[in-house]
Amino acid sequence: MPVPLLEGPNIRLRAPRNADLLTLFNWYNDPETVAPFDRFSVDRFEDFARDVAEAPEDPRSLAPRFVVERKEGPHVIGFVGHYQAHPVLTLTDVWYVLGEIAERGKGHGREAVGLLVDYLFHDLALPRVGATCDTANAPSYKLLERLGFRREGTLRSALFHHSAWHDVALYGITKGEWASRPREA
Ligand SMILES: CC(C)(COP(=O)(O)OP(=O)(O)OC[C@H]1O[C@@H](n2cnc3c(N)ncnc32)[C@H](O)[C@@H]1OP(=O)(O)O)[C@@H](O)C(=O)NCCC(=O)NCCS
Repeated sequence: MPVPLLEGPNIRLRAPRNADLLTLFNWYNDPETVAPFDRFSVDRFEDFARDVAEAPEDPRSLAPRFVVERKEGPHVIGFVGHYQAHPVLTLTDVWYVLGEIAERGKGHGREAVGLLVDYLFHDLALPRVGATCDTANAPSYKLLERLGFRREGTLRSALFHHSAWHDVALYGITKGEWASRPREA
């Protein structure tokens, strides 16, 4: 399935290009970037590049599916993805990372995830979109809550990073809730 171009006021999401891969690979393998949401593992560059190339055909892939680019620039600041999170239930979860630390806290993450969720509801016709995050990851859960996601539960001691087990919040939003959410001016 071709990866579309998704554009918001300040941010666009586009398919990764070969020239992006080393930057994405370095963020993907940096424990301080990914540890709050994922078990850290070291990939080989060749495997990472193959996974990114194959992701559009694999709904379960955890590889980055879009780069997040500032339209003013343009300048790659992060990446986002989505994956089938359950073998039986219709659960597709999103994930999101701004690798450029200086670009965090400016609303770019919220805009990027909003574009991704819009795409999943309209183009892939999903009934719900989910996300998980460490219960201590305030930028992540605030981003989700501002977009209208509801906290649906907590998985206790489900994520290991920084030498300890952490609780994980489960979030979700339905297609109807997304369509009727209040829009910001
Ligand atoms: C999570 C992440 C994508 C959020 O993107 P961002 O552009 O930094 O966030 P935004 O500017 O869109 O802000 C989202 C919300 O978080 C809040 N926020 C941002 N930085 C914050 C911080 N350091 N502490 C507390 N809240 C913060 C914002 O105020 C906003 O909440 P509000 O709408 O209630 O005011 C980004 O911080 C990141 O890449 N973090 C590292 C990777 C990661 O944790 N990914 C998520 C894994 S579940």
